Amino acid sequence: MIIAIDGPAASGKGTIARRLATHYGLPHLDTGLLYRAVGAAALERGVDFADEAALAGIAASLDVAALDAEALKSGAVGEAASRVAALPAVRAALLRLQQDFARQPGGAVLDGRDIGTVIAPEAPVKLFVTATPEARAVRRHRELAARGEAVGFEEVLADIRRRDERDSGRASAPLVQAADAQVLDNTTLGVEESWQAALALAERAR
Ligand code: C5P
Repeated sequence: MIIAIDGPAASGKGTIARRLATHYGLPHLDTGLLYRAVGAAALERGVDFADEAALAGIAASLDVAALDAEALKSGAVGEAASRVAALPAVRAALLRLQQDFARQPGGAVLDGRDIGTVIAPEAPVKLFVTATPEARAVRRHRELAARGEAVGFEEVLADIRRRDERDSGRASAPLVQAADAQVLDNTTLGVEESWQAALALAERAR
């Protein structure tokens, strides 16, 4: 069983994906981490964000087993990730790895922006998890504060809007809802309610 979870930044898709993976006993891949790792390496090595070939080279040589989720969660890395994610050669370099993960024999849960549309269009369970930019900014702002990153709310909201625009507006695998995805808008839902709603949708689709 492949479970594909897509949605914009800070929609809660990651939490839902992790819990679904635990619930069904499936391996989970947060595909945003792949783009974050490429973005972080580019920042670290001072690679020009216009140098598509160099960035694709970084993507092709990623050591997925060594990805450190905590170190990759900062706002600056998220911004770098969304820039490198707009480059077709970077996406191409990460395609096979994601497809192989999705198609392992027992099934898998993947979350990202293009899982239901590009990586695993055949997935029987597809959720599109979303919420208003304001609701997502409240969550992200709280998360960053908990990590000790003191950023103003307005700045977080502006970041979210810029990322939405870049992720939805790019030509290569933009963030769009798959025609056969079930939408979960959790703007007014708490974490637990959002999880219950996601589980009900997954149970119905599988
Ligand atoms: O989900 P997360 O915020 O960690 O993703 C970081 C960035 O990686 C996103 O803004 C998006 O541009 C990119 N991404 C993508 N396709 C995916 C997952 C993430 O383009 N499947």
